[in-house]
Amino acid sequence: MKRIAILTSGGDSPGMNAAIRSVVRKGIFEGLEIYGVNYGFAGLVAGDIRKLEIDDVGDKIQRGGTFLYSARYPEFATLEGQLKGIEQLKKFGIEGLVVIGGDGSYHGALALTKHGYPAIGLPGTIDNDIPGTDFTIGFDTAINTVLESVDRIRDTATSHVRTFVIEVMGRGAGDIALWSGVAGGADEIIIPEHHFDMAAVAQRVKNGRDRGKKHCLIILAEGVMGGNEFAQELAKYGDFHARVTVLGHVVRGGAPSARDRVLASKFGAYAVELLQAGRGGLCIGIVNNKMVATDIVDTLENHKHRPDLSLYKLNQEISF
Ligand code: F6P
Repeated sequence: MKRIAILTSGGDSPGMNAAIRSVVRKGIFEGLEIYGVNYGFAGLVAGDIRKLEIDDVGDKIQRGGTFLYSARYPEFATLEGQLKGIEQLKKFGIEGLVVIGGDGSYHGALALTKHGYPAIGLPGTIDNDIPGTDFTIGFDTAINTVLESVDRIRDTATSHVRTFVIEVMGRGAGDIALWSGVAGGADEIIIPEHHFDMAAVAQRVKNGRDRGKKHCLIILAEGVMGGNEFAQELAKYGDFHARVTVLGHVVRGGAPSARDRVLASKFGAYAVELLQAGRGGLCIGIVNNKMVATDIVDTLENHKHRPDLSLYKLNQEISF
């Protein structure tokens, strides 16, 4: 394999630039030519493709977002879109593709693989909801960004003796809420993967107040319901009047953490090694602190991401 391409797709995540840099630098180090595709699968279909040189990835490792831009492009789910994409790759003489992104992006890579085109998926999403890996690029930065806000909100919540509902991203997954909740000493963590009972939540908030607790922080994953709706429901159980903060896209931006930069650098270089060895149709992950490459079809079709629910139990036991 002499020429490979890379694209970022779906919601951006901090560390995507570090992954692109790693693919480009490792690829050139190994004597390959690397092409960048702008705007994810939309750019692939449109042929928005250019050669990347060593300097194109200079001064990028510390930047959030993705300098190759990203897009949500549902059209790539169609056969027509996929065949157009393969046509462009062939036109540019590109023999393998690295796709960095979340669930939707992986399905794009999966489709290419099913058409016999070697694609490798790197997990890049703040949601940490990809099967085949314990951690995704961007998750560590995202939970640290949430944590900073939680700590700030705690100051004002304590000063006014208030209850706060802090809604965090994560799509259908509760990982961001779970990890930032434990790290932030949240009173309650509400996630889609674990049943909750509003009456019991209200009782625990009241217990905290009764014993003189000055703040109450509830971290709510967006996949359960919106923060305002949650606060309204809670208010039905007593005099709570929770303030609501929706962190939203703030959590997706910012400089990647050291951990995300290292993870992205390792993933990127490993993807190049695999393609060089003629291996495609894989997705890369880190499991029990070891790099792994698993079959993309099997991983996506037969496995589901599961959050570490021991963290949920732990929080119930140490934060009340
Ligand atoms: O998948 C990343 C993510 O930030 C989710 O947490 C969130 O639900 C979604 O993307 C938001 O998507 P958009 O930026 O397209 O509104």
